[in-house]
Amino acid sequence: MTLSLQGKIALVTGGTSGIGLASARQLAAQGARVFITGRRQDALNEAVALIGNAATGIRADASQLADLDAVYAEIARSAGHLDILFANAGGGDMLPLGAITEEHFDRIFATNVRGVLFTVQKALPLLVDGASVILTSSTTSVQGTAGFSVYSASKAAVRNFARSWALDLKDRAIRVNVISPGPVRTPGLGGLVDESSRQGLFDALAAQVPLGRLGEPEEIGKVVAFLASDAASFINAAEIFADGGMAQV
Ligand SMILES: NC(=O)c1ccc[n+]([C@@H]2O[C@H](COP(=O)([O-])OP(=O)(O)OC[C@H]3O[C@@H](n4cnc5c(N)ncnc54)[C@H](OP(=O)(O)O)[C@@H]3O)[C@@H](O)[C@H]2O)c1
Repeated sequence: MTLSLQGKIALVTGGTSGIGLASARQLAAQGARVFITGRRQDALNEAVALIGNAATGIRADASQLADLDAVYAEIARSAGHLDILFANAGGGDMLPLGAITEEHFDRIFATNVRGVLFTVQKALPLLVDGASVILTSSTTSVQGTAGFSVYSASKAAVRNFARSWALDLKDRAIRVNVISPGPVRTPGLGGLVDESSRQGLFDALAAQVPLGRLGEPEEIGKVVAFLASDAASFINAAEIFADGGMAQV
């Protein structure tokens, strides 16, 4: 696939691992200059080396507004604007109703909802007219999963952000779309359970996917690069599922 992202400036939050890293690599391969964030400096250094094309790592927690200010100050200083924003940092763990704690709710919503909101809002002065904003949701935006209600509700919130923000940003022709992956083989997915249960989780999830397997991060990265490009110029406020059919049947 060849998409023209030559010379575009992109930010990928949570770009050190899994879906974010694969997407950053795909954007860079198509010619974009990519900034990535994450909370771990060692992971940032490794990811920057993998992404190439003069990628830049900025250590930042997406749930901390001061960190976001520092990210955009750095991008303003060294690139001056943003063409592509992939607000991807997120995650969550599992607790069934009855065991949900305040800490569980606050932590997941702080990154997945509050973090996405302020990542996009604080980018507005740097985003060019016609920019592409992509948010990571999940098949859980439209499906129920036992023990996963807080995470799923956070991803439903993200999906709805795109509907309203496409309207808020219409005078600037900024497209806001959502990528909703099904189960994708990443450290984040594997980390939901301990190592002894990991293969069992992967097998159980793969059995729910009509294609009969997990997705690979690169398969999501290609969709992100497409949504970032002019090839998706009339796609706006949409939720694009890359889930092997899991939530479509
Ligand atoms: N894998 C799946 O099956 C799947 C399916 C649907 C949706 N998703 C969504 O896809 C996104 C990426 O998940 P993944 O599976 O690729 O997970 P992952 O391998 O754990 O990667 C998560 C990335 O986000 C960063 N991150 C997490 N919390 C952060 C925070 N508060 N501030 C800044 N960076 C943060 C991590 O780096 P640090 O730890 O260094 O901060 C890492 O770079 C998430 O939004 C997730 O909910 C995943």
